[in-house]
Amino acid sequence: MAESDTLTEQQQEIIEEAKRRRTFAIISHPDAGKTTLTEKLLLYGGAIHEAGSIRQRKANRYAASDWMAIEKERGISVTSSVLRFEKDNIKFNLLDTPGHKDFSEDTLRTLVAADTALMVIDVAKGVEEQTEKLFEVCKMREIPIITFVNKCDRPGLDPLEVISNIENQLGIDPVPASWPLGYGKNFQGIYDLIGSKLHLQKKEDHGAKKAETEVYDLEEGLEQARLSDHDVEKFREEVMLTEDMMEMMDDEAFLNGKATPVFFGSALNNFGVDVFLNYFAELANPPQAYQDINDEERDLGRGFSGFVFKMQANMNPDHRDCAAFIRITSGKFERGIQVTESNTGNNVKMSTPHTLMGDERNILEEAYPGDVVSLFNPGSFRIGTTIYSDDPVEFDVIPLFTPEHFMKVSTKDPFKRKQLREGLKQLAEEGVVHVFEVPQGVGNELLLGTVGALQFEVVEHRMETEYNTELHMNSVSYHAARWLGEDKEVIEALDSSYSTHVTTDMEGHPIVLFDSGYALSQAEQKVGAEKLFKFKQNT
Ligand code: G4P
Repeated sequence: MAESDTLTEQQQEIIEEAKRRRTFAIISHPDAGKTTLTEKLLLYGGAIHEAGSIRQRKANRYAASDWMAIEKERGISVTSSVLRFEKDNIKFNLLDTPGHKDFSEDTLRTLVAADTALMVIDVAKGVEEQTEKLFEVCKMREIPIITFVNKCDRPGLDPLEVISNIENQLGIDPVPASWPLGYGKNFQGIYDLIGSKLHLQKKEDHGAKKAETEVYDLEEGLEQARLSDHDVEKFREEVMLTEDMMEMMDDEAFLNGKATPVFFGSALNNFGVDVFLNYFAELANPPQAYQDINDEERDLGRGFSGFVFKMQANMNPDHRDCAAFIRITSGKFERGIQVTESNTGNNVKMSTPHTLMGDERNILEEAYPGDVVSLFNPGSFRIGTTIYSDDPVEFDVIPLFTPEHFMKVSTKDPFKRKQLREGLKQLAEEGVVHVFEVPQGVGNELLLGTVGALQFEVVEHRMETEYNTELHMNSVSYHAARWLGEDKEVIEALDSSYSTHVTTDMEGHPIVLFDSGYALSQAEQKVGAEKLFKFKQNT
């Protein structure tokens, strides 16, 4: 019997709706063009008709307020956690805040809720540090990665060099899907290697409107292009070299994140954005079944379930609230649905889930796998919390990431030791920061660990405003931390070395801190790298 015969009408509806979703996150290094590309995806996705916030944005670079302004002006839904647009019957959910420069664990966790990663690379710089870190999470999750090489209107690496840079830096197989015609100032368009069409483009006013494009067969287009004979010849050779690679791309390697289609373009001038978006819809993964804690796949058509991948407190100072962002993993969400929190058994009525729209809030009526809903003041919800309606399930999908920046903290007021512990414990549970006991420390000190240095500012601010506790912060020069299992021999071996320091996190799990990269590699040799855990899975 065909699968569809055994499904109820509602299950079929859920599966069909899920197929239309493309839930993705952008991985990039600051300044590669994530914000600009996001805006252009909205432009080409039909959500806005004119892009223009970019210049205004300069005045207030770190704020999301320009996006809020776009929301208000255009009436589209840009939230602090998900940005939606719909094109050709495909619903795109872009996770994370555009323009958000702060690198934190939040950015990494967003990838756990995404089905596809869009990797944006600056053509002049190749793969950069933060992209590499984010890539590690994609690799761990084996999600497909689609690459956009940006800023081709500026002098940069030769496209073939970019391809080998991606391969060498990330160990992934890059497969050209489009190819730039001319570089830098001479950049004139894109050859679509999949559809074998040359898109010649006219430069528009900094790409505020869609670029005017003329589409040609290769030879016909080359006659129109303003390139020297030498450059035309070079382009032909490159196209011949790369033309069949997409066809030969191993689908499985792509779906597991081991091969990535590479598109070239300029987000600023809109060159190559339309070709990219059309194929992105085709290539990006629709929502897939997540594995539950028993390693069983939760089919999309089963009862409603989801997990919290992000918590954000005090999003709006007028309301002083906290929001939990939930990625839907199965079933249909309807407003007012009664859900159970799997770890506590608590029941919660999802009567006021919202998508945030500027300072007014839109109530979401229904949503499907791949969508994100947010719940305000969600009680005991934590990052990683699973919720379900009537068909129980538990996920364990959110890893804790290894901190790279460390700071010793104590209270300015010696009588606030209790608040220090309580406040930091709360922030650790929210996933804002890692908190450890200071190795051989005194009672009123704790050690903070973060993935991005700006997270410390968030901690300082929140401790002061929410827990009325001012902190003393002293940086400490640990190089890295790793979680340890329960293996006593490993713990003793590391404890006896003077450049490694064994301590515990707030839940009492042993961790080790390293003074230097050398100490880390020595320890890896001594006890085995597989005994030192970079990601601590939630238990
Ligand atoms: P990010 O979110 O990844 O940090 O990057 P963002 O889009 O803010 O872009 C960083 C800078 O790069 C901006 O310039 C932006 O205009 C520029 N940029 C983005 N895409 C392209 C492109 O395709 N070509 C060129 N030439 N530049 C691009 P800025 O001067 O820092 O800011 P602004 O004055 O443009 O706001």
